[in-house]
Amino acid sequence: MTPPVRTEGWPQWPPPATDEQRERLLRVLDGGRWGATAGSETESFAAAFARSVGAAHGVCTANGTVALFLALRALGVGPDDEVIVPAYTFAASATAVVLAGARPVVADVLPDTLHLDPEAARRLMGPRTRAVMPVHLAGAPADTEALKSLGIPVVEDAAQAHGARRHGRAAGSLGDAGCFSFQSSKAMTAGEGGIVVTDDPETYERLWSLHNVGRRRDGGWYEHPEVGWNLRMTEFQAALLHPQLPLLGAQTEHRAARAATLYRALEEVEGLEPIGPPAGTTRHTWHLAMLRYDPVAFAGHPKAAFLRAMSAEGVPLDAGYRSLSREPYTEGGPCPVAEAAEGSVVWVRQPMLMADDAAMGDIARAALEVQRAFRRHPFAR
Ligand SMILES: Cc1ncc(COP(=O)(O)O)c(C=O)c1O
Repeated sequence: MTPPVRTEGWPQWPPPATDEQRERLLRVLDGGRWGATAGSETESFAAAFARSVGAAHGVCTANGTVALFLALRALGVGPDDEVIVPAYTFAASATAVVLAGARPVVADVLPDTLHLDPEAARRLMGPRTRAVMPVHLAGAPADTEALKSLGIPVVEDAAQAHGARRHGRAAGSLGDAGCFSFQSSKAMTAGEGGIVVTDDPETYERLWSLHNVGRRRDGGWYEHPEVGWNLRMTEFQAALLHPQLPLLGAQTEHRAARAATLYRALEEVEGLEPIGPPAGTTRHTWHLAMLRYDPVAFAGHPKAAFLRAMSAEGVPLDAGYRSLSREPYTEGGPCPVAEAAEGSVVWVRQPMLMADDAAMGDIARAALEVQRAFRRHPFAR
């Protein structure tokens, strides 16, 4: 047995806590104001985050799924409505629509980027279509201009795209409302958490009210003139998140530099091609580096075998999504591009891109090693 290409581990995510996070967390703990209705951390973080993405307002939530749900409801989506979502995304993009009482209609994605295909979305428009949800997959913004031309509200799923930019404009400020996640795997995280940002003052009032049990900002504690929910973030989450804002830029640049190194190194590997971001991406946050695996170049071995072999070489890659067109709670499929991606797309996740340049070389060397081994023993059915 030859030793694995890489024996060293990969960077942990989230990174170790900073002094400022500890101090803020302790301040909340000792101050005894743990909920957002009592303290001020959540509101000040919401304002700072919204500012950072060029939006006027932000409302923090318990997680990214309910951020999407909240944005949909605030923009008037409800029972029997349809919302167009891409087929290649995390399930929550669609289940948030179900949570809002509406029906997720999945549109296929573009073969070169795996982002929502605006023409596929246009074909699925019907009398009940109330919104479209572009997903800024992997940290690169979707083509929101094309989707805006559909003439319905655009709810951005920016769960993976903190600080991403399209034609210089920040993800989250490209549609009518932008939703982010602060779940453990995300570029900014409090273990869980989310935020909706918007420029529109009316949408902001709706978001605020619906996430706070239907209260009005100028109303009483037990005045709930409409149905709302407790979707609030805790002060602990905000205390962890706020100090991450100034660190985000350098971390994103680090990942971008590693992704460039990785893609150069992969030029040596036949059959493992980078999947580029949509044209117009001016800042990619590299939540994922997506690659297309061609089994033909790997002597017929399927993707699952490649992933197992890479893992044995110390390089754990990810198999990525199953097309949402296959799920029983969606409508609109089939989606041949997203379905084909199941067998061909692999991901390098964000924490791996926080490693050094040598580690990127290890990924390419591991792939070459696996390729050599596969070519010595072609896949036999
Ligand atoms: C594209 C996308 N949408 C929505 C979500 C849901 O966010 P959360 O896990 O915070 O509910 C995630 C991540 O988990 C995601 O990657």
